[in-house]
Amino acid sequence: MQNPIIAALDVPTAEQALTLAREIAPAVGAFKIGSELFTAAGTDVVHRVRDTGAAVFLDLKFHDIPNTVAKAVASAARLDVQMLTIHTSGGLEMMQAAEESVQQAARQSGRNAPLVLGVTVLTSHDASTLNEIGCGASVGKQVERLAALAVKAGLRGLVCSPLEIVGLRQILPARVQLVTPGIRTGAEKPDDQKRTLTPREALDAGANWLVIGRPIYAADNPRAAAEAFWKSLN
Ligand code: C5P
Repeated sequence: MQNPIIAALDVPTAEQALTLAREIAPAVGAFKIGSELFTAAGTDVVHRVRDTGAAVFLDLKFHDIPNTVAKAVASAARLDVQMLTIHTSGGLEMMQAAEESVQQAARQSGRNAPLVLGVTVLTSHDASTLNEIGCGASVGKQVERLAALAVKAGLRGLVCSPLEIVGLRQILPARVQLVTPGIRTGAEKPDDQKRTLTPREALDAGANWLVIGRPIYAADNPRAAAEAFWKSLN
């Protein structure tokens, strides 16, 4: 089995990210670089993390007009990242433009196209904050609506919360890759994650990739923590 653990490098400097990445690379399947690290350390840190040989998930959640998002994801593809995120609420045309753009970048570079992952409703939302921004649907209904739109646009993957996996698996084609954060063994503190699953539960529910942040990077021994997560799946 391929290692499905994506370790989030949610640290503020390139030095911290590189130290962590080199330490845990053998125990994980990929690294996630999010807006904190990217905004501080830029494309250089992406190259240096890629140089460890690991796959990179660039989690910048692009949301803009289709033309701008198409160019942004093409830039990401040229960085040789393997996954990236866009907001599905950017609409059908924006998602189609993003997917077409990574396919074109892949043809030009001779590499595989990065997996464009759609983000549906942020887990920080509830019915009342959705209502505030003019969305009358429940969180569940809005997640389903945006997930279906993402598939219609040709996206090959989605980010979802642990508790959305089973429901999405029922309505999505099996080929759609699901990436889920909110992974805990139960032994550590849940931090601010309200809904968590263990790695085994998430895979059994239908997830393909597991994003794990604090339980690895904030552990006393990040390598041992990553190995324990990986071992729990074998
Ligand atoms: O530290 P923790 O394991 O909670 O980190 C989870 C990672 O997944 C963070 O990088 C966070 O930004 C991301 N994430 C999340 N919840 C979501 C979407 C993304 O925790 N709903």
